Amino acid sequence: MEILNQLPEDHWLNLDGLLAFLAVYEDEGRLQAFQQVLKKLDLREGVVVEAGAGLGRLSRVLLEVLKPRTLYLVEENPLAVRHLHTLFGATPGVRVVQGFIESFQPAEPVDLLVQEFFGPLLYDESLAALERLPFTPREVFPNEGRLTVQVIPLSAFQDPVLTPEVWALFQGALVSDLFDDSVVPYTPQATVLTWSWSGGLQHHEVDLSGLEGEVLRFGVEIRHNGIHLCDPVHCPNWPFVYTPRIGNRFRLSFTYHEGFSETRFRWIKEP
Ligand SMILES: C[S@@+](CC[C@H](N)C(=O)[O-])C[C@H]1O[C@@H](n2cnc3c(N)ncnc32)[C@H](O)[C@@H]1O
Repeated sequence: MEILNQLPEDHWLNLDGLLAFLAVYEDEGRLQAFQQVLKKLDLREGVVVEAGAGLGRLSRVLLEVLKPRTLYLVEENPLAVRHLHTLFGATPGVRVVQGFIESFQPAEPVDLLVQEFFGPLLYDESLAALERLPFTPREVFPNEGRLTVQVIPLSAFQDPVLTPEVWALFQGALVSDLFDDSVVPYTPQATVLTWSWSGGLQHHEVDLSGLEGEVLRFGVEIRHNGIHLCDPVHCPNWPFVYTPRIGNRFRLSFTYHEGFSETRFRWIKEP
């Protein structure tokens, strides 16, 4: 999806932000998985903060399932905030707050912070914002994730366009949604990154020597207290990410900028 006409820059950016997240609201697999686990949290009459409430789909589930005393919906995108006011402006106990979660100062202790800041490369969306909270929630949901990788021969995809020569043009780029994912089952071969609310982001050394194939496929897995919630096969909001393999070791890194992470990727030269 893209906006094809000229608009004032701020409006364009805010609309583009909304479009970027449409897939998350349409992902029924994710909503169901989240709902199943949220139902088991004992938080009746608690204070809940949703960090990045977007268009309010998960917010409705939080109201129904958790029955909080207060639900703060914190969102940085002003267009989404306008919609949240329309949806919940008259709902008792719901407070819509415009701004980044990093500057939100709740007036009372927070029992649960709910967030969906995972990107297709785990840390490439807004998880870094959670390291900068000015308050400490008692619990965070979901609280764990990992990024895994698989190596696949290019020939397995039998793609008439992405020949070896064309594939080589993508060297150095991480591209989501590129191949027909269903052709090769996802069987992760190594863990690249792990994140948890208690431990933050951890990088793992990955050495691909011994594995055959020219395509790297990355997939994210989201969990809560060890319970599996989502992966790219069951939750389409998180597509697989592909890149041409040009070595055995690589480095992924992230820099934080105004609420979001910017991603860097490079191959490490063999000695
Ligand atoms: C993937 S959507 C999730 C929406 C909703 N929580 C859900 O699960 O359906 C992420 C939302 O968080 C907002 N967001 C991202 N980073 C944020 C930040 N640092 N502070 C506040 N909102 C943020 C985005 O604008 C977007 O609306």
